[in-house]
Amino acid sequence: MAEAQSAAAMPDAAIGSRLSEAGGVAITGADLSRPLSPDLREAILAAFRDNHILVFRSQDLGKDQQFAFTHQFGEIEDHVGRHAAAARYGLVHTVSNLDEDGRPTTRLSAAGNYHWHTDKSYHAVPSLMTVLHARELPPEGGDTQFANMTMAYDALPEATKLRIDGLRAVHSWAASRRRAGAPPPSEIEMRERPPVDHPVVRTHPETGAKALYIGNHASHILGMPEEEGEALLLDLLEHATQPQFVYTHHWQDGDLVLWDNRCLLHRAIANYEMAKHRRVLHRTVVTGTVPF
Ligand code: OGA
Ligand code: MN
Repeated sequence: MAEAQSAAAMPDAAIGSRLSEAGGVAITGADLSRPLSPDLREAILAAFRDNHILVFRSQDLGKDQQFAFTHQFGEIEDHVGRHAAAARYGLVHTVSNLDEDGRPTTRLSAAGNYHWHTDKSYHAVPSLMTVLHARELPPEGGDTQFANMTMAYDALPEATKLRIDGLRAVHSWAASRRRAGAPPPSEIEMRERPPVDHPVVRTHPETGAKALYIGNHASHILGMPEEEGEALLLDLLEHATQPQFVYTHHWQDGDLVLWDNRCLLHRAIANYEMAKHRRVLHRTVVTGTVPF
């Protein structure tokens, strides 16, 4: 029903069938380089709410066009990373495996992307929608995985649901970097990004569905010994990222993928020859709201 309505609102666009139990639909025939009609925007939002991950095929957006596309869904998040290239990034930044000289490398600046996470959960106001547009892809691999945190929550034993009810996790950029094996942040960076806490189970503001809100940035539980809290979070993460909750996206040239950080974890997969092939994607993010 929702699908038929959405398709009707997109005369040139077609919504495919669900890509996996966990989420995802492919949308063909839409031209995202131009302003969206109100109907198309509504249809995209409905498909986003119902499927969590949208895969638009055959797009070719420049950075300005990607900015304009994303801005139709809300305020765009600034890139706060402090590494050398940050100034160049602006509000549309590049995710890649290239070093400062533009050569493929295994020494990634964003190593944390290869661990399950939800974007910017170490901020008081974390990300809502992340948009990634493939610009250069390896011949194979370089996948991105998504795990559905509503399915994962629903599948928990009742005793666990009771145990985690009302708990808050501390999310910290420093802890996240430590776990990802990245160098520790500077003192200035630490002061700019103090740890924050969010509910372990958050409620989706549009659907009312409960979802686990965990991942690599979640370090421990407020008011619980750190080791015990970390162990609990790791147990939950192991449960939540089982194959039946996961959609694996195999990128195609021209793909523009967007996802809902409020109910998904995601990670990049290092299943390609990173030191040999280029993987370049452009990234924009819509700012979310305080999780509850
Ligand atoms: C991101 C991210 C994963 C990837 O851009 O937020 O986690 O596959 N990317 O590049
Ligand atoms: Mn991410």
